[in-house]
Amino acid sequence: MILPVYLYGQPILRKEAEDVPDNYPNLKELVANMFETMYYAEGVGLAAPQVGLSLRLIVLDGEAVANDFPECKGFKRAMINPEIVEFSEEEISLEEGCLSLPGIHEKVSRASRIRVEYTDENGKHQSEVAEGFAARIVQHECEHLDGQVFIDDIPAIRRQLNKRKLQNIIKGATNCSYKTKSIGK
Ligand code: CO
Repeated sequence: MILPVYLYGQPILRKEAEDVPDNYPNLKELVANMFETMYYAEGVGLAAPQVGLSLRLIVLDGEAVANDFPECKGFKRAMINPEIVEFSEEEISLEEGCLSLPGIHEKVSRASRIRVEYTDENGKHQSEVAEGFAARIVQHECEHLDGQVFIDDIPAIRRQLNKRKLQNIIKGATNCSYKTKSIGK
């Protein structure tokens, strides 16, 4: 089932998400719905708060950008209660977007290599190193779980340049090809 994507301005995107409990009902169905929503919206990652659930759960699939970023080949994951436990000192600045901020693309500096620990959809604990754009997707999605979005740390001038677009997103005046939920409508 395709779920509506909550847009910038929705308070849930600013909340620190709760841990997914062991006995969370229909977790597999939720994961499947999040993947379906992400593919429909042509995203490479989606966090549960973006579909209105304050849960520490993310899905990602970098296959769509694997031509440009080979490290994303086969990088399809569902991560339950993910935690990034190591960040490389080296950072790379690249342009990003977000399904909750349609039409906005800004450069963000992020660690080029991370280690993330999480529970997978089969309940197995995983500890994994991700690099390059794969590491970027994980960092972007984990940020959502802490109530942040990728434009929070962009320079003030860049934020000013995006002001009108942001106001339109808050109002719901966007031209999205996917279902959205704004506070405006
Ligand atoms: Co995002």
